[in-house]
Amino acid sequence: MDHFLYRDGALYAEDVPISEIAAAVGTPFYVYSTATLLRHFKLFDEALEGTDHLVCYAMKAASNQAILKTLAQAGAGMDVVSQGEYLRAKAAGVPGEKIVFSGVGKTAEEIRVALTGGIRQFNVESEPEMEVINAVALELGMVAPITIRVNPDVDAKTHAKIATGKSENKFGIPISRAKEVYALAASLPGLEVVGIDCHIGSQLTDLEPFRLAYEKVAELTETLRAEGHNIRRLDLGGGLGIPYERSNEAPPLPVEYGQLIKDTLGHLGCEIEIEPGRLIAGNAGLMISKVIYVKSGEGRDFLIVDGAMNDLIRPAMYEAHHDIVPVNEPAPGTESQPYDIVGPVCETGDTFAKQRSMAPLAAGDLIAFRSAGAYGAVMASEYNSRPLIPEVLVHGDQFAVIRQRPAFDEMINRDTIPEWL
Ligand code: LLP
Repeated sequence: MDHFLYRDGALYAEDVPISEIAAAVGTPFYVYSTATLLRHFKLFDEALEGTDHLVCYAMKAASNQAILKTLAQAGAGMDVVSQGEYLRAKAAGVPGEKIVFSGVGKTAEEIRVALTGGIRQFNVESEPEMEVINAVALELGMVAPITIRVNPDVDAKTHAKIATGKSENKFGIPISRAKEVYALAASLPGLEVVGIDCHIGSQLTDLEPFRLAYEKVAELTETLRAEGHNIRRLDLGGGLGIPYERSNEAPPLPVEYGQLIKDTLGHLGCEIEIEPGRLIAGNAGLMISKVIYVKSGEGRDFLIVDGAMNDLIRPAMYEAHHDIVPVNEPAPGTESQPYDIVGPVCETGDTFAKQRSMAPLAAGDLIAFRSAGAYGAVMASEYNSRPLIPEVLVHGDQFAVIRQRPAFDEMINRDTIPEWL
């Protein structure tokens, strides 16, 4: 459920008409709903009620300071994967002890910044990275808390570009080698092993892969404890999917996911961390775009809209489906027609949807791309010299621009001309 609903034929974000925001900021833009962000965070928090836990929002999904602050004030920790994300989380007021540092290639500099600024734990992805964390910690006279990300060799049954838990993927260490890698960690004086980490992929629409992975984590916890390691924290990653196509998708709910966690791992008495990104932000955001032209092609009509693949890359990159709805609700009984919905970028890949059934639209009409809050604005680029589009946050009947649209000059003047030109 989200807070983007029609009222008297007009699409609203909470209590604000989308058309009012469009008039104020221009199109295209992203709009997020505070109530939806908070609702999704609470669903996870409540799903783990009764267990010692921390929901660490995977801020790669949507990392605007205002979004981070909204979630942090509700009690969220953060999962970060770069120095930039770490510094953003800190700037939004998240204390170091609520930030976990994931990512497959942390540099010595990133490790130093996180250790000195405060960190809950590093999720270590390889032995060489472990050696570097140890070295940096010793150099600073500190001890770095770590988990080791194990790769459970489970098929997440999701898009190949976002599956991470198979042995051929670049992530984590094979679970079969965990014993020896934990022994190495225990021998390094700059490290304190606090637990195990595991993340198998994103947009999972079935709980079974999670079950298989978590059962392996449970078994590994017992094995490592028997070896003398003090495993007291389990970071279970993110990955729970969302309904992108509302008419025919119903992925498992956070409460079911929480129950699975309790069933598979509850007996171990560990503190549980989860790192959801998409489920918190995805359906809390829309991309709003305007129809520039309706073009009649060979046997098909194109809606050429002012948003493009540089603003929302998911359809081009993952063949992802986003529901697209008109901001002005069609009158009941209006007949739909198929459209190819495309952006103005000079690539055929700049196609959001093919033969999508929509009520007739005309130049100037506003449309909303649903489920665009996660991996939308954060993956945008300025390809075709199209400035990054603004982000807007709604809170009840208020809205605020939380990232401005840069002026063309600002974008152009970031280039510098060498003196020989
Ligand atoms: N933890 C780790 C270590 C991750 O790598 C990820 C996502 C998450 C948590 C959050 O997963 P989520 O709950 O959002 O599924 N750009 C792609 C998704 C990439 C996901 C990368 N890792 C997309 O637009 O579908």
